Amino acid sequence: MFNLQAMFITFEGLDYSGKSTQAKLLSEYLDSIKVDNILLREPGGTKISEKIREIILDKEHLEMTPLTEFMLFSASRSQLVSQIIKPYLEKGSVVICDRYYDSSTAYQSYGGSLKLDEVLQVNEIATGGLIPDMTIFIDISPEDSFARSHRRVSKDRMERKDLKFFNNVYHGFKEIATNNPARFVIVNGLLTIPQIHSRITETVNKKLNL
Ligand code: TYD
Repeated sequence: MFNLQAMFITFEGLDYSGKSTQAKLLSEYLDSIKVDNILLREPGGTKISEKIREIILDKEHLEMTPLTEFMLFSASRSQLVSQIIKPYLEKGSVVICDRYYDSSTAYQSYGGSLKLDEVLQVNEIATGGLIPDMTIFIDISPEDSFARSHRRVSKDRMERKDLKFFNNVYHGFKEIATNNPARFVIVNGLLTIPQIHSRITETVNKKLNL
């Protein structure tokens, strides 16, 4: 495996945008060209963070307050950054993360009830200010996300939200992307899986000078 240059790539998008598939395909592509990389998901990615994930998504935890939920996402993220992301970047790996703090900004603040400046402040604290080099936003509309969600039977706690919520989250992602143009790459999520994958590899190759 080659260690070309450390690079931190995050994937963002609404539920059912296909970002998890694309994150996996990117990792497999980098494996195939022997670029050292690791694929992570949020919330999760460490033993502690996976346990926090179970608490967050548990269907029975209906009494969870928005602030508790956000603190749990942030605790999971903080552990992941310290235990895995930073050490991998320090040894020159590419780190691919399926969701990162933009998800908290979009879901907990724009979609939820938490104040934007407070969410941004906690995001910064939880990650020690670690900003992704590239954020790939797989763009599907709230309507498409919602329509795709109805095809799945068993929903976790986070997926039991209405269309208005997803409209707000979507608007949030768009605004975050507009505010961070150098970091964001927006890909049309209605293209085919291979088409999306090739747009992503083109952009990543350019950034890695391949
Ligand atoms: P995820 O496992 O990425 O679900 P999917 O692959 O189906 O998109 O995320 C689980 C849920 O948690 C999803 O509804 C988005 C939400 N979420 C937040 O609300 N805030 C966050 O900070 C993160 C990381 C996820």
